[in-house]
Amino acid sequence: MNYLSRRCKSILPYTAGEQPQDKKYVKLNTNECPYPPSPEVETVLKEFDAGRLRLYPDPENKKLVSAIAQKYGLEDDNVFVGNGSDEVLCMCFPAFFDENDKVAYADVTYSFYKVWAHMFGVTSHRIPLDEEFRLVYGDYLSLDGVKGIIICNPNAPTGTALNRPDLLKIVEGNPDKIVIVDEAYGEFASCSVTSCVTDYPNLLVVKTMSKAYALAGARCGYAIGNKALIDALKLVKNSMNSYTVNALTEKIAIAALNDKKYYAGIIDKINAEREETADSLRELGFEVLPSSGNFIFAKHKQLSGSEIYFQLKENGVLVRHFKSDRISDFVRITIGTHEEMKTLISEVKKIVRRKD
Ligand SMILES: Cc1ncc(COP(=O)(O)O)c(C=O)c1O
Repeated sequence: MNYLSRRCKSILPYTAGEQPQDKKYVKLNTNECPYPPSPEVETVLKEFDAGRLRLYPDPENKKLVSAIAQKYGLEDDNVFVGNGSDEVLCMCFPAFFDENDKVAYADVTYSFYKVWAHMFGVTSHRIPLDEEFRLVYGDYLSLDGVKGIIICNPNAPTGTALNRPDLLKIVEGNPDKIVIVDEAYGEFASCSVTSCVTDYPNLLVVKTMSKAYALAGARCGYAIGNKALIDALKLVKNSMNSYTVNALTEKIAIAALNDKKYYAGIIDKINAEREETADSLRELGFEVLPSSGNFIFAKHKQLSGSEIYFQLKENGVLVRHFKSDRISDFVRITIGTHEEMKTLISEVKKIVRRKD
């Protein structure tokens, strides 16, 4: 079709996890939170004035920006908000990379990075994780000709995490490159570098409210970092869409950020459930990678990743399977409620028994 750009003709888009509308599954495929958002969010929804939707939202989302700045003890100038962290990460490409620049990231990581790189004509430099799917920080210390680095920490879909000191060695060792740390799952881990953004002008941390804050449907993500980096993101945003975070989402996100106690409680529950599920799967013959996220990545010694995925789906449990090299034997399982994980384990037991 001649109407399309060369870019559009060649792009292979990201495949989002299934959101089935036909039947009800135990849905463990897109790392959503199994618990509802804070009751404060419900109050905002009940009290929201529909008449407010007549007006555009604040294009700078000042109240939300201030709430996030306050959470991290930063200035408002250090915060950028967007319609989900996917949008924020996407805007990083035109903000920090020119066509034919090189961006480095792991061979097994969030697969959207590759799509954005392609979309903006940026060359991907893939660095293999080690044989246990760990990121080796030394591999990121002498990257000639690379303009920037993206590190997903904890990593998706593996769940593995690089500890804070080693991550900071990458940031310190690359003062001439931007280091973008995607902390979509940071709340479930102890490796966060959010407290370090004022120490390093090349560090940008991107976060989401979709996972730990149970707000995937509201679409809110943000970046924190040096003012110059935030200004670049604002420049891109204001060249694309003035109103990325809608008026309702802004209020909901602020209410959620203020309810620290509620979220600390559900994060603890999810982390405990993760360890219990990992133990049960190991007993059933799975190799389970150590996870610092709200999901686990596991493979069975006799069953293929696709066998597990399809058989679970047939029986009403949805997990995620990736066909790409190195990881096609694995399935990624989101941590759900205790009941949901009981169902998962009981269905997995049946599959393993049928194979024995
Ligand atoms: C590593 C990683 N980064 C970013 C995102 C995007 O999250 P959202 O756009 O919902 O904020 C996801 C979503 O699954 C993710 O896994």
